[in-house]
Amino acid sequence: MTAGLFVTFEGIDGSGKSTQARRLAEHLRAQGREVVLTREPGGSPGAEEIRALVLEGDPDRWSAETEILLFTAARRDHLERTILPALAAGKVVICDRFADSTRVYQGVSRGDLRGMVDKLHSLMIGREPDLTVLIDMDPDTGHARALSRRGHEERFEDFGPDLQRRMRAAFLGLAQEFPARFRVVDGGRDIEAVARDVAEVVERAL
Ligand SMILES: Nc1ncnc2c1ncn2[C@@H]1O[C@H](COP(=O)(O)OP(=O)(O)OP(=O)(O)O)[C@@H](O)[C@H]1O
Ligand SMILES: [Mg+2]
Repeated sequence: MTAGLFVTFEGIDGSGKSTQARRLAEHLRAQGREVVLTREPGGSPGAEEIRALVLEGDPDRWSAETEILLFTAARRDHLERTILPALAAGKVVICDRFADSTRVYQGVSRGDLRGMVDKLHSLMIGREPDLTVLIDMDPDTGHARALSRRGHEERFEDFGPDLQRRMRAAFLGLAQEFPARFRVVDGGRDIEAVARDVAEVVERAL
């Protein structure tokens, strides 16, 4: 049995993560690979229920600390029920956001809670992606794109340009911190051009 590959997409709001995750899944399936396309928060029935608790409702519904616990609980369920079984079966798991999003969001926008996120991660998750594609782009463009498809899950979409700039810097900081698994792709181009670069970095990892 071959080992699977765990690929995550990260980047600021509207950078094209969901679009590129879908494109990559189609691309690899066309090559005959078994692919599980999933997302966070969510990705398993239990974690999707937690997603609704975290993303909908009053922005002050949870303290920052409670929110980290909810994200960690959702991630643990997602890992147990969806990600690890698929990897054990030799599949490629493509996940739209994972722990790096929590590191960045909780580290930048909710006070400096990166230490708490990392402690809970090593205690309850203990798994990093094999490859993380960071779609890097100018926050103003990303924000405009994100607003254009705004829905009911908007607790995190009122950050504004200044926070988006700090998040972009924090994602790039993570890429420097974990160079072995991060690949930075320029997201400020048309969908096809970005998809070509993504396919190239993933095929190299496979
Ligand atoms: N390279 C691109 N050029 C132009 N528009 C794009 C590009 N990539 C994605 N879009 C469009 O921008 C919007 C946001 O893209 P997408 O949903 O993939 O971003 P995202 O990173 O998943 O956002 P979020 O963080 O809010 O989930 C969508 O309407 C999508 O069709
Ligand atoms: Mg998305």
